[in-house]
Amino acid sequence: MQDVIAFIDGRRDRFVEELVAWLRIPSISSDPGRAGDVKRGAEHLVSKLRSLGAARAESWATAGHPAVFAEWPGPPGKPTLLVYGHHDVQPVDPLGEWVTPPFEPSIRDGRLWARGAVDDKGQVMIHVGAIEAFVATRGSLPIHLKMIVEGEEEIGSVNLDALMRERAADLAADFVCVSDTAMFGRGIPSLCVGLRGLTYVEVSVDGPALDLHSGTFGGGVMNPVHALARMIAGLHDEHGRVAVPGFYDAVVPLTDVERREIASLPFDEAEWLRSTGAPATWGEQGYSTLERVWARPTLDCCGIGGGFQGQGAKTIIPARARAKISCRLVPDQEPDDIAKKLAAHLERAAPPGVRVRVDVLHGGRPYLAPTGHPVFEVAKRAFSKAFGKPTVFMREGGSIPFVRTIADATGKPCLLMGFGQPDENAHAPNEWLDLDNFHRGIHSAAYLYDELARM
Ligand code: BES
Ligand code: MN
Ligand code: MN
Repeated sequence: MQDVIAFIDGRRDRFVEELVAWLRIPSISSDPGRAGDVKRGAEHLVSKLRSLGAARAESWATAGHPAVFAEWPGPPGKPTLLVYGHHDVQPVDPLGEWVTPPFEPSIRDGRLWARGAVDDKGQVMIHVGAIEAFVATRGSLPIHLKMIVEGEEEIGSVNLDALMRERAADLAADFVCVSDTAMFGRGIPSLCVGLRGLTYVEVSVDGPALDLHSGTFGGGVMNPVHALARMIAGLHDEHGRVAVPGFYDAVVPLTDVERREIASLPFDEAEWLRSTGAPATWGEQGYSTLERVWARPTLDCCGIGGGFQGQGAKTIIPARARAKISCRLVPDQEPDDIAKKLAAHLERAAPPGVRVRVDVLHGGRPYLAPTGHPVFEVAKRAFSKAFGKPTVFMREGGSIPFVRTIADATGKPCLLMGFGQPDENAHAPNEWLDLDNFHRGIHSAAYLYDELARM
């Protein structure tokens, strides 16, 4: 592998420049005004992949934002790897908190600062770099490689199921590799073997037809903000458990072995708490912090609003209140089932005098990897070669709906080989990418392709 690794080392700065060019495109999938930019981001990637001699490199239209697909044939008899990533990014607000503008990438202290640097354009470019290294040094890849890079991950992959049904033959593979997660800690190669699922709802509580004078009408009708606050307060019990009836019915309990594995990781809880800025940890009684964020289902109000939010005082009874609620799910919870139970509970909990509506925005199913499959040892070996350290298994509390969908559709194992760092501000202002890690990531992907070719 010296030839491939030497090529990667010689191209270090060039790889960063190419990532920078892609990061300049503000591909925010949730903003309808940016649809043209998301499309431009997809086309930018297609032309890069074409230049790497892909047999196919195309943009796939969907009912929403396009996905990018490419394919490089490998030697006969070698396995097919499907690499997944996403080219859309999160919104950038609050814009005022960025030290440098989110779509004007800048390098400071070995870090590349930009929206999408780690989530997920940087991680996609890790694979692009590894592909380029093989094509340039050997003329072809050691395995058959396919790449799918979607444009709607950050808005719940709403059109992905349909796309996967239509393109099932194109997406067929022996193994799937997703690089869209973080490592357990700096310099620790980590394979993620579990992701939580998600269901996301919006609750609307409507009372009077318009804001009322709270002197004239106060005491006469139910206030929707009070009603919603009471409904939300009732979503947890005093032990930190979710109070929605049936919420835990389908949860597969953690085994003693799984609990021991999680406890064996070098987790620094004090440091973790410091990184949050919160004054204390909180959560479901009876579980450690890592268990709670990786392997237990949770419910969070992500936002709430209603009534007068301006400066000074205004005496009204608001006409309506709204809240956004997400639940993170674990096997074998189903997003639709949990959304139904949550909606029914909220409707029951509403006091008389208001109308309640619950809209489901999106959902995704949880994933647990079949770690007994030999490909996990192969991936560990590849990752450890690049980082010079043993690879650990970890889980993530976040969600990537594609992973479970493709795993179920193909029955094939999914390797979650992530290169992020837990403190790189994904989804927050001042997102960044560790450039040494980016470079080692390219080595890791190259070693992965090489090891898979020897399986
Ligand atoms: N890359 C993340 C998934 C992730 C989150 C990995 C945390 C590791 C740690 C992905 O881009 C993401 O943000 N997913 C959303 C999914 C949702 C919009 C369906 C999430 O987890 O909120
Ligand atoms: Mn991501
Ligand atoms: Mn994300």
